[in-house]
Amino acid sequence: MKATMKSVRIHSFGGPDVLQFEDAPVPKAGKNEMFVRVYAAGVNPVDWKIRQRLLGQGPLPQRVIDYRSTKFEDVVHDVDVVLDTIGGDTQERSWNVLKRGGILVSIVQPPAQEKAASHSVRGVFLISKARGDQLARIADLVVSGQVKVIVEKKLPLREARQAQELSQSGHAHGKIVLVTDAHGD
Ligand SMILES: NC(=O)c1ccc[n+]([C@@H]2O[C@H](COP(=O)([O-])OP(=O)(O)OC[C@H]3O[C@@H](n4cnc5c(N)ncnc54)[C@H](OP(=O)(O)O)[C@@H]3O)[C@@H](O)[C@H]2O)c1
Repeated sequence: MKATMKSVRIHSFGGPDVLQFEDAPVPKAGKNEMFVRVYAAGVNPVDWKIRQRLLGQGPLPQRVIDYRSTKFEDVVHDVDVVLDTIGGDTQERSWNVLKRGGILVSIVQPPAQEKAASHSVRGVFLISKARGDQLARIADLVVSGQVKVIVEKKLPLREARQAQELSQSGHAHGKIVLVTDAHGD
């Protein structure tokens, strides 16, 4: 096995220019660890949020609201569940669309418990964990065609900067995927 591999790394926090496409030592699997060859990897907002050191819509059945022209809180009321994938002001405006006893589930930031209480609703933060058995079930759903993965853009690993910029635009309409050179287009 070669001693080095191509890698995209950061050596300091900052903008997309801190991403370095470079040679890095091939990691060694420790006890109870596995060495996995990566063919392709998804780019997620968490990637540029970490890079920038930042870490630390309501369900509308049968109705689509264009958030650029309509405020959802003006037209939606008394819903059971809000799934918040945006956070900030959008989460703030979500409290008023819930009915009493409803629930706001955010995957972006923990909802303020005092706000939830003042609206007589619950607010929870959901964070996904990669569990082998669940991933296997998802893989089955993909293979059987019940879940379709929409890919916005596929880029070679060396274009990681462009991939994170696209993610950071907040307007990707599918997964952004980085593929290693040997397997890219
Ligand atoms: N907790 C967890 O386990 C977990 C897991 C995955 C992701 N996340 C987080 O969830 C968030 C969303 O992830 P993602 O991968 O879907 O992000 P994303 O790729 O940045 O989402 C882009 C989508 O959001 C829409 N959008 C942007 N601003 C909006 C607004 N103000 N109102 C309504 N829609 C808006 C865009 O629509 P247009 O382009 O049409 O404007 C686009 O369809 C991120 O913050 C990510 O870090 C959390």
